[in-house]
Amino acid sequence: MKSQRGDARFPVGVMLMDGCQGPGGVDLNVPNVARMYDYYLGGKDNYAADRALADQVLRVAPQTPALAQENRAFLQRAVRHLAGPAGIGQFVDIGAGLPTLENTHEVAQRTAPGAHVVYVDNDPVVLAHGRALLQGAAGTRVIQGDLRRPDEILGSPELTGLIDLARPVAILLVSVLHCVRDEEDPWKIVAWLRDTMAPGSHLVISHITAADHAENAEAGADVYRRASTDMTLRTHSAIRRFFDGFELLEPGLVRLTEWRPPEGVTPRQDLPTWFFCGVGRKT
Ligand SMILES: C[S@@+](CC[C@H](N)C(=O)[O-])C[C@H]1O[C@@H](n2cnc3c(N)ncnc32)[C@H](O)[C@@H]1O
Repeated sequence: MKSQRGDARFPVGVMLMDGCQGPGGVDLNVPNVARMYDYYLGGKDNYAADRALADQVLRVAPQTPALAQENRAFLQRAVRHLAGPAGIGQFVDIGAGLPTLENTHEVAQRTAPGAHVVYVDNDPVVLAHGRALLQGAAGTRVIQGDLRRPDEILGSPELTGLIDLARPVAILLVSVLHCVRDEEDPWKIVAWLRDTMAPGSHLVISHITAADHAENAEAGADVYRRASTDMTLRTHSAIRRFFDGFELLEPGLVRLTEWRPPEGVTPRQDLPTWFFCGVGRKT
């Protein structure tokens, strides 16, 4: 064992273990956004370094687990709409995260049994768990890909073997675009995806913001920046620009709880606005 003292990625008090490797040779001592998110959702695929850093986020942003759950609930409502009334039969979920309850293919295939779903992530641990979970699940695939290289994702034979890009597709960028820095031009990445999608395709986005209690949101993001990826908070108008060239479906770019809440459910008002979400249709 060696101490991490002096290494800004690690929260004080976490010890590094030499040779502690996860699937794909991943260093489990490096806190990882996918596994921190899994911890907030009550999952079991997380390690000491992930939990230690996640606990630091909770100290400044205690509403994070509730927001993670609302983010999943938004994803599920959006997929139900797309697989149902919108008639979409193919989904590409980029930055899919670790498998959890009610994954995209489970929600989509319940509504549209023949739906095809490709999960994409750049984290080898996510890929290992995803492949183990999906073994034998019809119409699904898990592939390695980086959102910053969208041409490699949509051009991958593994993807095109299941997704016909000449037909409408839904691309999910749920809680992942904030991992891409401004300098990497995430708007250009999304515009490239838009131009490659067939008319009638849909884009689903949720994105971190600091619309209120901004100091706490910034403090939480600062802690996150010590994990495996970056975290850029964006304004409503900067997030809205991702939907350029799309018709934004009702109710627009809104708080997680406000996107088509289930009938009879009054959206929670007690959570800070740290996410905006929306669904767009390419016209
Ligand atoms: C907070 S999780 C979101 C999981 C899921 N989309 C959801 O909203 O429930 C973010 C995921 O994005 C992945 N990710 C981060 N940067 C990425 C990139 N450049 N390309 C692909 N995946 C990325 C992480 O590995 C992680 O699994």
